[in-house]
Amino acid sequence: MKIANIVGARPNFMKIAPLMKAMRKQPEIQPLLIHTGQHYDAGMAGCFFQDLGIPSPDVFLEVGSGSHAMQTAEVMKRLEPVLERQRPDVVLVVGDVNSTMAAALTAAKLNIKVAHVEAGLRSFDRTMPEEINRLVTDAVSDFLFVTEESGERHLLAEGISQDKIFFVGNVMIDCLESSRRLWTGSTILEQLQLNKGRYGVVTLHRPSNVDESQTLERLVEALSVVAERFPLIFPVHPRTIGALKSLERFQSCLHFGNGAAPTTGIRCIAPLGYLDFMALVEHSRIVLTDSGGIQEETTVLGVPCLTLRENTERPVTVTHGTNRIVGSSPSRIVTEAARMLDAPFNAPVLPPLWDGHASERIVAVLRRVDPTST
Ligand code: UD1
Repeated sequence: MKIANIVGARPNFMKIAPLMKAMRKQPEIQPLLIHTGQHYDAGMAGCFFQDLGIPSPDVFLEVGSGSHAMQTAEVMKRLEPVLERQRPDVVLVVGDVNSTMAAALTAAKLNIKVAHVEAGLRSFDRTMPEEINRLVTDAVSDFLFVTEESGERHLLAEGISQDKIFFVGNVMIDCLESSRRLWTGSTILEQLQLNKGRYGVVTLHRPSNVDESQTLERLVEALSVVAERFPLIFPVHPRTIGALKSLERFQSCLHFGNGAAPTTGIRCIAPLGYLDFMALVEHSRIVLTDSGGIQEETTVLGVPCLTLRENTERPVTVTHGTNRIVGSSPSRIVTEAARMLDAPFNAPVLPPLWDGHASERIVAVLRRVDPTST
């Protein structure tokens, strides 16, 4: 059985790594890896292949950056002839990036079965490009693998039949657990001259937070107050760096580059690879983020997390984990950060099936696919 696995952007790589490993253990499965090239910088893509031992892609589509429509269209145009040539039995997509939706649509129109890993998550905020990607991908998928109970509920409410839905756990956590030995060996704390538990981590890249300078300014205002207690380390996504440099009012507390180590303020550094980032998060006192995946990783690592968004598509990180949704109001962020830092910390409860074995469950389901059926 031939399975074409699609990756495109940074948050896809740690999801595909354990799946490829699990597939390669099955002699009857022939996994192909197709990289759309949505992310292409060494720091956004290349280093993840090295860190996670992902095999070189069999096909590289080199779509690069562009508007949402252009990027989606470019993936579809370039993927279609590849799928026609390869005729895989299943196209497997992960997450919710533009490449995910584009590949799912392309495969569905060629009558190739689509498997979506991380199906059913919903923020109910259609201004988020990822929400559109999630809805469209799930609507055309044949196998919907969900990470948390809410996913199953949402899919059923959208009329997707129960026999297509599989609650398997979280492949992102498979990756975190299987690479734990590697990332505990990271020297990132020494490199950045940080002491365990004496710094925070920030990530921000959502268009709704960083593309509008007033919103970004309000977030940085809040971060600069939190950063009076200890340094905040901010590995900056390429889309955010220019906007940060143009915030003149905050240049005294924003420090750029991986050099000297101020004891307070916001240290903006280049994006980190997976192993260094996991080590940085594990030893941090608090994480402030607008990422989806980091809400899940902090839950498993037991690190307090403030999500700088109005909603989350991952509610289990709030009900079971360490996550709190605080939006973008500076006063709320500062108050919640202080509360989190001063309160005694309650150990998180691991969400059901976040046990490091989701990929094996997914492969067990896919092995039952009959390659002769269309
Ligand atoms: C994408 C995903 C988002 C995910 C994020 C993780 C969509 C809709 N969004 O957002 O869900 O959380 O990845 O990182 O798919 N750029 C570079 N180098 C790169 C990649 C991007 O410089 O390797 C710059 C380009 O200026 C580009 C911009 O970043 O225009 C945005 O990249 P894009 O892939 O469009 O979306 P992300 O913001 O990365």
